[in-house]
Amino acid sequence: MKIAVIGAGAIGGTLAAWLAQDYDVILCARSPLEDLEIETPRGMIRAAPLILTDPTQAQPVDWVLCATKTYDCAGAAGWLTGLMGPETRLAVIQNGVEQRDRFLTVPRERTVPVIIDLPVERTAPGRIVQRRDGNITVPEDANGAAFADLFAETSIDAATTPDFATAAWKKLAINCSGIVSAITLRAAEVANDAGVAEVMRGLVRECIAVGRAEGATLPDSLADKVVEWTRRAHPDSVNSLHADRLAGRQMELDARNGVIVRLGEKHGIDAPLNRALAALLAASR
Ligand SMILES: NC(=O)c1ccc[n+]([C@@H]2O[C@H](COP(=O)([O-])OP(=O)(O)OC[C@H]3O[C@@H](n4cnc5c(N)ncnc54)[C@H](OP(=O)(O)O)[C@@H]3O)[C@@H](O)[C@H]2O)c1
Repeated sequence: MKIAVIGAGAIGGTLAAWLAQDYDVILCARSPLEDLEIETPRGMIRAAPLILTDPTQAQPVDWVLCATKTYDCAGAAGWLTGLMGPETRLAVIQNGVEQRDRFLTVPRERTVPVIIDLPVERTAPGRIVQRRDGNITVPEDANGAAFADLFAETSIDAATTPDFATAAWKKLAINCSGIVSAITLRAAEVANDAGVAEVMRGLVRECIAVGRAEGATLPDSLADKVVEWTRRAHPDSVNSLHADRLAGRQMELDARNGVIVRLGEKHGIDAPLNRALAALLAASR
């Protein structure tokens, strides 16, 4: 079994290191690195997978895991020409609800959308801190089950769900509300502010309306729940949109908020709060 991981960042590096304990893993990186050392809740794990930085050196594998940021899909697609054989399956491990639509050259029946809840942070090339065991959710079909099996010997809980759309939109509901932190530059504690909490509920209500039109089952109570969960998080916890802004990196604004506006338009549902806050954040420096 040969597995290629595109993206040697926090998620790609961590998954590559765990999988390399049991499989032949190739790490397809943009920036060079030597090897992987992951500080996990179970202790340090190390791996020295074959590392490629030139897509022309890629050969077909059984599985490709794409773990770039959503805005780097065009670059990531450059690897697929070499990595994809007639049977290769592609798992797209990224935020949002459009994982299946981001690599249209790969047949849909060989693309597995993946939701990941794994708090990981890259501290240097190939050096990552994993804060919890984490979990992975994939659709309940043959490819989803085969993907989940890859993690059987790891501490990451990988499971299938019969209602992937609902799982993905529920995660998006949390992520879309996180924009209030990226705008105010305040960690999760900002949800204790009553006015901000109301903005969060408004963002989530728009997400619920669009998600339902897309086939997800989302209760009205989700808006209050998202505020509650954020209030219960560590007050200093910084979401990735906020972290990316602080670090001056590009942000996954389209995948977290823009998508609600775009898909809303398709269904005739307006999402003015997501539109306005995404515009404000995009324009901020
Ligand atoms: N980190 C988390 O805790 C977490 C949790 C849940 C979900 N996610 C989601 O998982 C996805 C990945 O996030 P991340 O935190 O792992 O991001 P990240 O640390 O920025 O890693 C992304 C990696 O992709 C690499 N890359 C970009 N273009 C490439 C290309 N053309 N070829 C090869 N590699 C390329 C980057 O290379 P460079 O090294 O050159 O930058 C970087 O190493 C995102 O959608 C994120 O929202 C992350």
